[in-house]
Amino acid sequence: MTRQKKFYLDESEMPKQWYNLTPDLPTPLNPPLGPDGNPISPEMLAPVFPMNLIEQEVSQKRWIDIPEPIREMLIQYRPSPLIRAYELEEALGTPAKIFYKNESVSPAGSHKPNTAIPQAWYNKQFGIKRLTTETGAGQWGSALAYACKLIGLECKVFMVRVSFDQKPFRKLMMHAWGADCVPSPGTETQAGRNILAQFPDTPGSLGIAISEAIEAAVSDPTGQTRYSLGSVLNHVMLHQTIIGQEAKKQLALAGISKPDVVIGCCGGGSNFAGISFPFMYDKINGADIQIIGVEPYSCPTLTKAPFVYDHGDVARMTPLLPMYSLGHSFIPAPIHAGGLRYHGMAPLVSASLKDGLMEAIAVHQNECFEAGLLFARTEGIIPAPETTHAIAGAIRAANQAKEEGKEKVILFNFTGHGLLDLMGYEKYMTGILEDYEYPTEEIAKNLEAIKGYPLPK
Ligand SMILES: Cc1ncc(COP(=O)(O)O)c(C=O)c1O
Repeated sequence: MTRQKKFYLDESEMPKQWYNLTPDLPTPLNPPLGPDGNPISPEMLAPVFPMNLIEQEVSQKRWIDIPEPIREMLIQYRPSPLIRAYELEEALGTPAKIFYKNESVSPAGSHKPNTAIPQAWYNKQFGIKRLTTETGAGQWGSALAYACKLIGLECKVFMVRVSFDQKPFRKLMMHAWGADCVPSPGTETQAGRNILAQFPDTPGSLGIAISEAIEAAVSDPTGQTRYSLGSVLNHVMLHQTIIGQEAKKQLALAGISKPDVVIGCCGGGSNFAGISFPFMYDKINGADIQIIGVEPYSCPTLTKAPFVYDHGDVARMTPLLPMYSLGHSFIPAPIHAGGLRYHGMAPLVSASLKDGLMEAIAVHQNECFEAGLLFARTEGIIPAPETTHAIAGAIRAANQAKEEGKEKVILFNFTGHGLLDLMGYEKYMTGILEDYEYPTEEIAKNLEAIKGYPLPK
């Protein structure tokens, strides 16, 4: 055999620090604001998050050490392999070299444990006994359930109703790791009851599930419950940067000094940040790298929404975050990529787009499932619907390289397997999957609610 397909790192080579993009952004990050329009103090977040994570959230340090106990737990499945997609390249007839970082090898099946483990660990260090969270497709909920079991915390997950119904096995995974999982909206919280009274048949949304999970955390009279978010916040982006750091070392093993194109799908922004921020650091320092975020047409946050201050949840419990937003009351169409249906985008990813460090494209779900099936039939692994967006982006880039006759190096983040998402594939294969484009007028309507809010600089 002359060609090498998989590039592995030794366990000792797993990164020892996380990379924080904040100090390197060309334009300083706008701060989160409180209800009075003034920047919030770290203390104001204390009922929701433990102070050690709040310190990371506001940190201006470029490199942050990963505590040894966290590294020991991450080593259950890391470093993840970097794989050269020879079979996909051949099927496309492209001169491009396509590499993917396979994050589906984690116990939960996605990149999400990379932040679930540190978040659970920091909460435990702070004396917290129980975590609440939301989940879209169930990937994040199962990752946090797994992390809480490793670390010894109770875990309660509010799962967006449409995914709860579409993906019952995710709930069973959470049960296997000892967590409780309920559909959202539900009757356990005031936020859930309010939404149900207004919209009894709602499919739910991440924004609603976040409101429920925050309420469940802050209303615990013992004060020993906190909330954990699987994306969007700065410390979540930070924890995911081990992906891109490992990929850099693995590309070097493949004899590649730098990729030409880096691609990630975008839900709340965390896997995209994970794969791309270490390369954005190089880009800021002069490297020529195209960085592309891929989102669904039905939830076009980066490609159609304005850059505003908005809440992260429907009940407006979170501070105002500077981000591209479709409006916190956005109820997404029930497309199959549940993890990409969030109305906002991580402030750090939003700032990267605003500063021209990345670009964004929107793709329809039929194109994504077509890409996912081609991937499964060439590289073997059946991708999660979210991941098919990154694959569709990589295929577009590889086809462009073919047209231009260029031997480009394309790197994308393979965020998760789709073994529990086969209903979407069935719909695609039987030809009944519908494409849906979110109307621009609806965005304007949703944004009525934030008229008069301050605007980011
Ligand atoms: C497999 C997978 N990929 C991607 C995402 C998108 O999330 P993020 O943008 O935070 O990486 C999710 C979210 O649930 C997911 O489950």
